[in-house]
Amino acid sequence: MSFQLEIVAWYLKNRRDLPWRNTTDPYVIWLSEIILQQTRVEQGLPYFNRFLAHFPDVSSFASASEEQVLKLWQGLGYYSRGRNMLHTAKLVMSTYGGKFPTSYRELIDLKGIGAYTAAAISSFSSNEKQAVVDGNVYRVLARYFGISHPINSNIGQKKFAQLAAHLIADQEPAVYNQAIMEFGALQCKPKSPLCHTCPLRLDCHAYKHQLVDQLPVKLKKVKVKKRYFNYFVGIDQNQILTKQRTAGDVWQHLYDFPLIETNNELTTSSAEFSEQIKSIFGAAVKIRPVEAKKHILTHQIIYVQFFAIDNYIINFNDYAEIKSVDIEVFKQLPHPKIIGDFIEKHID
Ligand code: ADE
Repeated sequence: MSFQLEIVAWYLKNRRDLPWRNTTDPYVIWLSEIILQQTRVEQGLPYFNRFLAHFPDVSSFASASEEQVLKLWQGLGYYSRGRNMLHTAKLVMSTYGGKFPTSYRELIDLKGIGAYTAAAISSFSSNEKQAVVDGNVYRVLARYFGISHPINSNIGQKKFAQLAAHLIADQEPAVYNQAIMEFGALQCKPKSPLCHTCPLRLDCHAYKHQLVDQLPVKLKKVKVKKRYFNYFVGIDQNQILTKQRTAGDVWQHLYDFPLIETNNELTTSSAEFSEQIKSIFGAAVKIRPVEAKKHILTHQIIYVQFFAIDNYIINFNDYAEIKSVDIEVFKQLPHPKIIGDFIEKHID
């Protein structure tokens, strides 16, 4: 039996009886899909029932106040979804005469409706041949067909969408779409999938090659670290303060200025910051902010502030990494770009 027929056969035996599956009303399907984007089925059910009890059709929804909608939405989080729903309901009244659209082409232009939701509503309400691709579908396809393209990469999304569109051809779209999502939710679960009872396991690439727990592949978003560099530009006659950067951090071995790195963006009115500055540059130091810049690297954003300092006294024994050098010599040294830019702009 083909993949599609197996999935549908499984669905007809194992499907949950959910209220939005017994209707082709695009308004009701829209309501369910927006709620289910936000939460799991069990948690979403009471919200769905409450919304439908208050607003049985798009016209009653459209005449609700934002407060009423947000109150019913309360607890689901991501409140812009609730607001977008009200906007869309009003637009359906004004543009479509209260008749909720059922075609993918019209649905995709509505606020809060993306490719997944447009495919879901159009297929469930009018049997349009649009394949849904949600987290469940990614997982089922990745495992069964052995696709290792990351689901959150451009190439991956294209491959999965192509395969999904190919698979839905010749199928009953509404049933097939519900079936593959339900199969992903109940059988081919993210953790501890029920492979031992799975009717598709003998043809499943991941099962055959023991890759079930490695598919689908999702690229980890690297966390971007925020750093705050406070540079002190000390010029005394033809001498300037500099320091060479050490290994194990950005810009290694390049020359910059004396630096205090802080955990937040600070101003010199912060007592702690001001104490730190005085401990290096002496109690009489005068500080003047000159420029603030943001420097974006692959894994970090560096917020750079430059302060000009006057009247400073440095104990070069305590701060051996700081040197006083001739400005012309300093200009010839290798610098990080942000320092080079500063020199060009501010130091003649
Ligand atoms: N999750 C998103 N849409 C769903 C649907 N129509 N049925 C069950 N779970 C879903």
